[in-house]
Order: sequence, then structure tokens, then C-alpha cells
Amino acid sequence: MTISTPVRPAKTRVLIAGATGFIGQFVAEASIASGRTTYVLVRSTPTCPSRAKVVKSLQNKGATILLGKINDKENMEKLLKKHEIDVVISAVGAENLLDQLVLVEAIKAVGTVKRFLPSEFGHDVDRADPVQPGLDMYNEKRLVRRSIEDSKVPYTYICCNSIASWPYHDNCHPSEVLPPLDRFGIYGDGNVKAYFVAGFDIGKFTMKTVDDLRTLNKSVHFRPSCNFYNMNELATLWEKKIGRTLPRVTITEDDLLSAAAENRLPESIVASFTHDIFIKGCQIFSMSGPDDVEASSLYPDEPFRTLDECYGEFAQQVNEKPLHSNGNPPPKPVVELLTITATCA
Ligand SMILES: NC(=O)c1ccc[n+]([C@@H]2O[C@H](COP(=O)([O-])OP(=O)(O)OC[C@H]3O[C@@H](n4cnc5c(N)ncnc54)[C@H](OP(=O)(O)O)[C@@H]3O)[C@@H](O)[C@H]2O)c1
Repeated sequence: MTISTPVRPAKTRVLIAGATGFIGQFVAEASIASGRTTYVLVRSTPTCPSRAKVVKSLQNKGATILLGKINDKENMEKLLKKHEIDVVISAVGAENLLDQLVLVEAIKAVGTVKRFLPSEFGHDVDRADPVQPGLDMYNEKRLVRRSIEDSKVPYTYICCNSIASWPYHDNCHPSEVLPPLDRFGIYGDGNVKAYFVAGFDIGKFTMKTVDDLRTLNKSVHFRPSCNFYNMNELATLWEKKIGRTLPRVTITEDDLLSAAAENRLPESIVASFTHDIFIKGCQIFSMSGPDDVEASSLYPDEPFRTLDECYGEFAQQVNEKPLHSNGNPPPKPVVELLTITATCA
């Protein structure tokens, strides 16, 4: 009997910080699935049940768990050397972006890391220019970029644009929430387009870049043409999936600016990005820079999950939910995920 062995990519050794977080989980899962040796850095043994479950699941799938914080330079240097880490991926959240400055120092001191992917996973922060408080976050991401470039650490910046979901302007992780079942909030005239990428694909395509020479010291933009939608088109897609139409209510530019100006964190940050995407059109620019590459062009044989499929899955979840007395399934509360995050912080 012949036992076929799975084809494994290069034996790259990857360390992921932030793997218990929203984006980091997708990246860690994809790293393990790609066959690379995957280490996951956790700050402490998680006491929060949902985080503990994530760590256990990654461990069961083959990841090695390492204890440490990216802002502890001495320990990071020790871990990078001991485990001969080739690639470091950071998916730390908005509150800890500047911790990465210490991580960059550690990577520079060790000198053997072949690629660093800082916590980006959104827009090209050197191009986009949101109002406050989103701008503060981008300024921190810009500072991290400059420290990487000044330190001559080899890098890739992942600009994956919007997550495949209904883009609620008050929720950091809208893919955890069903699209509306009562009425649509449409930003402005609803005609400004954006790119939507499933979390699974953020992980999958991120892992494709980590040892690809074409992405060395580049920004990789995720722009699948199949997932380029405006708000009106998103609403129509969802109506088709649930088999009924819903009222459309305009959320104006002023509404978004007011929500941003309230400075309630993290909701106001999301409002400022929503304004930048759906009013100012920050995802639409010409990809002419020498340091820009695009994921679907780099990997033409790898399909992106379509928004049509993702919305189909959301509709399936609606059908599986018990109905209210009014005949509608109960929508998942918008604040649910934020609440979980806050409880576990
Ligand atoms: N494109 C999009 O739609 C989108 C959506 C959301 C986020 N993002 C971006 O994705 C990135 C990650 O955000 P997120 O929302 O996924 O983050 P998150 O859910 O808040 O998770 C943050 C993770 O970072 C870890 N962490 C924080 N400080 C650390 C430190 N000093 N050392 C080691 N680990 C540390 C946390 O560990 P603990 O478990 O110990 O807390 C947690 O695992 C950000 O850059 C964000 O802007 C993009």
C-alpha cells in the first residue's frame, strides 16, 4: 500500500502574535493549514473561556504555543533565536499597535527573520486619510511602517480592505453579525464601491505572501474583482438571499462624521473608516506604485470566496434560527462581539 504524503511548502517557521484575536485566528489557521511550522505567541495562559478555546484549538491542529509579549524585547529575541523563526506575523489589536516598535527592535537585533508582517490588515495607511479618531490609529500604523523601513527589516504590508459582511459603521468585527433583517442603513448615495474579503481568504492569501519574493518589501492589496460592491448592490444581494425587500434608510456623511466625533472607542474609529470608504472612496485608487502588488494578479489560480457565497452562508444562518412571533428570525445583536471582546480583555 502506498501512503501519499501531503505536499508541504517550504519549511518556513512562522511566529504569529495576536492569534487569539479576530484577524489573527484566520492567519494562524491558514498558517497551520499551509503546512508551515506554526508558533503562536500568547501573552498569558488565557483565563477567558473563548480565548482559551482558540488556543486549545490551534494547539490541537498543530501549533506550538509560546508565552510572551511582543513588547518584551529580551524574551522576543530569545524566542526568535531558539525557534529559528523565519517569518513573524503580528495581528495585535488597535490598542497595542505601538508595542510592535519593540518587536521591530528585537527582529533587527536577531537579524535572521526573513519577513515581518506588521498588524495592518485593512487599508493602505500611507494612502488613506480618515478623520479622527481613525487617523490616530493610522498614524500609529504609519509609525510602525517607518520603524520597519528604517531598521531594514524585510517586510510585507497586507492591505486586505473590508471584511466580507454587511459594513456596520459601529462594529469592528461585522462579519460576526448577520446583515440587517429590518432595514438597510445606506451610506450617502450608496454608490461608492469597496472590496470585500472573507476572513478565511485574509488568512489564506496572507500566508501565500510570506515567502514569495514578489511581495518582499511591498504592499499587497486584496482586490478581488468578484467582490467589488457598493452599498446598494450589497443590499440587493442580501434581498435576493432572504427573498424579500427591506426599506433603505440613508446614513448621511454628517451622520458618520458625528458618530466619529463622539469619540466612543472603538465605534467612532469604525465610523471614521466607514466615512473614508463609503463617502470618500478610499479603496479606489490606481495601483501604479512600484511597491504595490495585487493578490489576484499574483495568485490567479487561487479563487477568492465570493461575497455571493458569504451572503448565502449568512442567509443559511437566518434560516437555522428560531423565528420570532412576527415571523422574522432574530438578528444577532450588533454589539455581541464587542461585548465578548470587552469581557475577555
Ligand atoms: N479589514 C478589517 O475589516 C479589519 C477588521 C478588524 C481588524 N482589522 C485589523 O486587524 C488587526 C488586528 O485587529 P483585531 O481586531 O483582530 O485584534 P483583536 O481581536 O483585538 O486581537 C488582538 C490580539 O493581539 C494580542 N496582543 C495584544 N497586545 C499584545 C502584545 N503586546 N503581545 C502579544 N500579543 C498581543 C491579543 O492577545 P490577548 O489574547 O492576550 O488579548 C489578541 O490576540 C489590526 O491591525 C486591525 O486594525 C482589520
